[in-house]
Amino acid sequence: MSRLRSTSIKGKKLLSGAEETKKPSRKRLKTAAEGDKAPKASSSSSSSASSSSSSSSSASSSSSSSSSSSSSSYHSFSDPAETVQLRRELLSWYDSEKRELPWRTLAETEPDVNIRTYAVWVSEVMLQQTQVSTVTDYYNRWMKKWPTVQDLAAATLQEVNQMWAGLGYYSRGRRLHEGAQKVVSELKGKMPQTVDDLLKQLPGVGRYTAAAVASIALGQVAGVVDGNVTRVLCRLRAIGADSTSPAATQALWSLANSLVDPERPGDFNQAMMELGARVCTPKGPACSRCPVRSHCRSYQKVQVKQERNAEQLLGRTGRSVSGVLDVEDCMHGGACRLCPLEPWDEGLGVQNFPRKPVKKAPRAERTLTCVLVRPGEQEDEFLLLQRPNKGLLAGLWEFPSLLLQDGHSDADQKRALCLHISRRLNTDVSDGVLRLVGEVVHVFSHIHQTYVVYAARLSQSGAGAPAENTRWLSRSALQDAAVSTGLKKILKLYESQVGLDGSPKEKTQKNSRSIKRTEKSSRAGGGRQLPLSSFFTTLKEGKGS
Ligand code: ADE
Repeated sequence: MSRLRSTSIKGKKLLSGAEETKKPSRKRLKTAAEGDKAPKASSSSSSSASSSSSSSSSASSSSSSSSSSSSSSYHSFSDPAETVQLRRELLSWYDSEKRELPWRTLAETEPDVNIRTYAVWVSEVMLQQTQVSTVTDYYNRWMKKWPTVQDLAAATLQEVNQMWAGLGYYSRGRRLHEGAQKVVSELKGKMPQTVDDLLKQLPGVGRYTAAAVASIALGQVAGVVDGNVTRVLCRLRAIGADSTSPAATQALWSLANSLVDPERPGDFNQAMMELGARVCTPKGPACSRCPVRSHCRSYQKVQVKQERNAEQLLGRTGRSVSGVLDVEDCMHGGACRLCPLEPWDEGLGVQNFPRKPVKKAPRAERTLTCVLVRPGEQEDEFLLLQRPNKGLLAGLWEFPSLLLQDGHSDADQKRALCLHISRRLNTDVSDGVLRLVGEVVHVFSHIHQTYVVYAARLSQSGAGAPAENTRWLSRSALQDAAVSTGLKKILKLYESQVGLDGSPKEKTQKNSRSIKRTEKSSRAGGGRQLPLSSFFTTLKEGKGS
């Protein structure tokens, strides 16, 4: 239970007209499209904020609103007594079943409202698109290093990226940092304290994050809709329209705002998320353990269908065995914007809801990348280049890479990669020294990326001074650097193929398979087949062999 959230605004309705018409969805969608693929947003313990493009209804404690002009009370909670009962049942389940999570503990025990708001903001940003189990460790390390918004503001972006490395969707860390600097430099170090101000004043904060922070840290009565809540609400009220459509989005926010408990809004919102993460899961939902199944239209539908089937088997019609009567249906039938277009699929049960939008397949890209190594003072060092500060994997360090362009031969591309490396190193590196290691696939939310991995070794340090944003890092420094998961996969492949002394590892069944696969795909793409013996050569400094 969150007891320390009682502020002067606790219990106040905080959904102003301005907020109701605000459209933060574009911001959120952009964020989601920027980074690399996070653990599946729809997986049981992750939550991805639903984008919103339309208004929310009043967060009245017991009223419900018709969520769409053509929808019936079938898709909303029109009986105030039912709303009260659902809140009670859900919160009582949450009190006994909830996981102890560090941000929950902070929200409940931290007496300083500024720290509490900051702590919940950090957690909500980390939890967008990323599973609780992954976030927990990152969150603890983050809060230990930067326990206040002032501490975060004083950090460098490099430190933030380093801390974020591996969490994916890297712009989230950058936005937190930007937001903290804004709070310190423009808001006198005070975190915004209302949904509207959170939305307006913090970069990257959309409707979901603002409402989540305001309800959890500040006790404000604002409902939230994220991926888990979307699933729970769609099942509860049989919303079968594409859950990202404007009508469904409006209905979902309206439902969330009508259901949220005015006494314990933060707990209620987290209980909805928790239910979606642990009981009302995308696959294999545990309806028998659901504390609110008596309010669930999908569950009722399944029960009625099962009953009908049983009666038919017994040759009885028109009678109910257990007393479950026929399920109520939407009054608007085919005209309803919230009903599914497809017929009910008995095999799916409650998983008929929610309907997913048809996903665009990620575009396929191939990128040439080179693990370039030189002997360091104590251990080998790897060449890393920093990505631009905007766009995919902004500001992270990577092995020199080049996106393969259609219509160019592999040989051309390899030469171009060497030219790129030569410029950054101020040393001539010829393409003849690059040896194929294998391929690594990394799937971002919108890109299916195949890295074609080459390796080369300088016999000594390069002669010229490396350019800006170019670094030689030891293996241990690399481990702690702000690098992406893709780079770590490339490094893993490299290390499986190359021994510590830099020579190719003995051919084992496993690594020869990886090479063969690459040889095959290289051939398929017009590439040259390389014998394993030529896998690794030493690059002479200056003009390569
Ligand atoms: N996902 C988003 N916010 C969350 C929270 N506060 N607890 C658990 N999962 C979440």
